[in-house]
Amino acid sequence: MSDVRYDDRVVVITGAGNGLGKTYALEMGRRGAKVVVNDLGGSAFGDGSDQAAADVVVDEITGAGGTAVANYDSVTDGDKIIQTALDTYGKVDVVINNAGILRDKTFHKMTDQDWDLIYDVHVRGAYKVTHAAWPHMREQNYGRVIFTASAAGIYGNFGQTNYSMAKLGLHGMSQTLALEGRNKNIFVNTIAPIAGSRLTETVMPQELVDALKPDFVMPLVLKLCDENSQETGGLFEVGAGWIGKVRWERTRGHAFSVSEGFTPEDINEVWDEIVDFTDADHPASIAEANKPVIKNLKA
Ligand SMILES: NC(=O)c1ccc[n+]([C@@H]2O[C@H](COP(=O)([O-])OP(=O)(O)OC[C@H]3O[C@@H](n4cnc5c(N)ncnc54)[C@H](O)[C@@H]3O)[C@@H](O)[C@H]2O)c1
Repeated sequence: MSDVRYDDRVVVITGAGNGLGKTYALEMGRRGAKVVVNDLGGSAFGDGSDQAAADVVVDEITGAGGTAVANYDSVTDGDKIIQTALDTYGKVDVVINNAGILRDKTFHKMTDQDWDLIYDVHVRGAYKVTHAAWPHMREQNYGRVIFTASAAGIYGNFGQTNYSMAKLGLHGMSQTLALEGRNKNIFVNTIAPIAGSRLTETVMPQELVDALKPDFVMPLVLKLCDENSQETGGLFEVGAGWIGKVRWERTRGHAFSVSEGFTPEDINEVWDEIVDFTDADHPASIAEANKPVIKNLKA
């Protein structure tokens, strides 16, 4: 197996001033990438800004002999971040959508501002950055894109309605972009990481925060963004050195006769069959997913 190298690759990493994004930036820099280190430098809750966050990482990369430039825009101005890549290095090969904040509250206490801010940073931000990079990737017939989801989006997490919405939304975005990008050699994947960072230090004991090093997530991101990787449309859970892939699972279900019609009572009678995961199905495309529906219409 050849080494994973990023020589002459221009890599944009959002939220690269801290936590996970910083580890990606440092390692990509070590492996030859020209890195755009984006960070707004605000708090974990989305307040304020500080250029030092991105500057420190750029200094560390260049101090080690690498190549990097800082960008201080919010991901909601994603076009400006991509413009920094184009102005400085003339292209963009890799986009790692990583910037994130939290506004945790139980749903009955959540304000419109908590909802909108989480949507803006995670969903609209990732959209703006990726949308600005996409035409350049299509034109050069090459691109690698990462979205950062969360177990909170896949499984739900108490007090994180807004965050769960945003995080699973990103996986939805990623699945369609994987389809639209494939014939242009643009591969798109989503990770759901777990790592100690300022986002998790409020909800995890310090011991766990220290043990769950962002460095244990980083190698998967570098593997997925490698020019030799063929993986696209995947969703990976990753943390503490463990990596697994997630897919949809669906029960065989029950088919009623549409010509005869059926009632809620009929559904009650076969409910156990509808929710029974024995011999479950794993549809991997919308065509596969629609098969039993079409079959039942024709029956
Ligand atoms: N740490 C975990 O266990 C975990 C779990 C699931 C998902 N995630 C996701 O991983 C990503 C990285 O999180 P982290 O744990 O490293 O947190 P972190 O707070 O250490 O890093 C996030 C960075 O994003 C930056 N940022 C925030 N809003 C921004 C904006 N509008 N524009 C540009 N930069 C902005 C912050 O300044 C910060 O440097 C986030 O998307 C987070 O939701 C983390």
